[in-house]
Amino acid sequence: MPLSDTWRAPLYEALLRHRSARPHSFHVPGHALGQALKETPAAPDYAAMLQLDVTELSDTDDLHQPEGVILEAQHLAAATFGAEETCFLVGGSTAGNLALILAHCRPGDILLVQRNVHKSVIHGLQLAQATAVFLSPSYEEASGLALIPSLSDLATALQQYPQAKAVLLSNPNYYGFGVGLEPYVELIHSYGLPLLVDEAHGAHYGLHPELPGSALAAGADGVVQSTHKTLTAMTMGAMLHMQGNRIDRPAVRQMLQLVQSSSPSYPIMASLDIARAMIDSAGPILFEPALACVSSFRKRLANETQFEAANLPIVQGQEGLEACYIDPLRAAVQDRTGTLSGYAIQSKLEAYGCWAEMANEAYVVLIFGPGTRDKDVETLLGAFKKISETLEPGRDRPNKSGLGTPLEVTNDREVHSDRISDPIPFGIHLVREQATEIISLQEAEGRISGEMITPYPPGIPLVYVGERFTQATITRLQRLAALGAKCQGASDSTLTTVRVWVKTV
Ligand SMILES: Cc1ncc(COP(=O)(O)O)c(C=O)c1O
Repeated sequence: MPLSDTWRAPLYEALLRHRSARPHSFHVPGHALGQALKETPAAPDYAAMLQLDVTELSDTDDLHQPEGVILEAQHLAAATFGAEETCFLVGGSTAGNLALILAHCRPGDILLVQRNVHKSVIHGLQLAQATAVFLSPSYEEASGLALIPSLSDLATALQQYPQAKAVLLSNPNYYGFGVGLEPYVELIHSYGLPLLVDEAHGAHYGLHPELPGSALAAGADGVVQSTHKTLTAMTMGAMLHMQGNRIDRPAVRQMLQLVQSSSPSYPIMASLDIARAMIDSAGPILFEPALACVSSFRKRLANETQFEAANLPIVQGQEGLEACYIDPLRAAVQDRTGTLSGYAIQSKLEAYGCWAEMANEAYVVLIFGPGTRDKDVETLLGAFKKISETLEPGRDRPNKSGLGTPLEVTNDREVHSDRISDPIPFGIHLVREQATEIISLQEAEGRISGEMITPYPPGIPLVYVGERFTQATITRLQRLAALGAKCQGASDSTLTTVRVWVKTV
């Protein structure tokens, strides 16, 4: 891309200046700007990369006390993304979620939070020893995919727990489905509470008229975005944006020091600076090639193969979800004949050299963006055509069963589905000190889990430590095991057995 007059990346430029002064390194990191690897012909690309991998020096600023080029880069990012203040994250959105929860919840404080959250949110609850009141997700009817809770459930929860410290929602979901947050912001602010949003999958939102609006534009107070997921930052590069006075900004900054390394990676931070500079320099054009590619891909996929990308019904209006949208740069594709699971589609695509972001029982998820090129999409379409030829034509029964149910909250007292959970105290001690035993998954109904089992991706735990196994959870885990899904945290990777708390009499 040609550099325009508006191209400015102060942090990255400081690193280039530092390198071109041919510095003699007497500081960490030990590779000394890659010098240690120069005579190692086995790793030339790695050695080149290290030239910008410096540390906190007088000309490179300090993430934990930014006063120079990092502060300037963060200010520029805040202006681009519409925040009052932006903090760079070198530990992904994970670090941002942990900091937001730790900043707002002391031990025992209530956080209203949707049940279908990434595991980093559960870890934040554990570290803060917060008390969660979980809300069941709502489901988009046509796709069966879980979204944020309905506005009416949130209203009930706020009435029931006005002492809550904040509300945390995760929007959009991994499949690119989301809900307009404006009415949620209005409701939550009417209780004087901050809305914290895990917008890990929406870093590009609001940056082109065809893309959905961002959580910040809807009025959210604290927003975490994985810049590395949908923009051009390096893996682990993310941002935490803040606005307004409902969010405790000094506490967030302090908690970021607690959860982030004191030696944050300069290449990652510079990549955040460059990701922002590319947006400022190119503007919405940055997304146009990919938007055009994916729009034609969706049409051709539906017309020329047995596959289709999930879409919203033309006439929307599912109760409470009027403002539902789909990210045009993401396609959740399923086999219309119902023959192949998402996992099977994913592995067949890999045989054609096409690597998808993730899969579940029904869908394979493909992400498009500034790096998407026509030739890649042609190859992808060709692969779908070839796979399509192996499917029985004319069968129209897509498989979307069972995607959602276990993410309903379960109340301890009655072990049945409800929309709003009882308050659930979290704490590291529950993970570390509880006596556990291993039993067969088949016999786990009603038992309390001693492990967090998380299909990854999407990273949403199906059961967390301290949660009761329901029959729906057991059935879902058995189905995932049969399909060969990878689950993090399971003591038995085959999911034949699980770890549960020993019963107390
Ligand atoms: C919804 C959601 N939140 C947070 C995260 C964590 O993001 P990161 O990988 O940037 O730490 C993920 C990761 O996939 C995610 O899907």
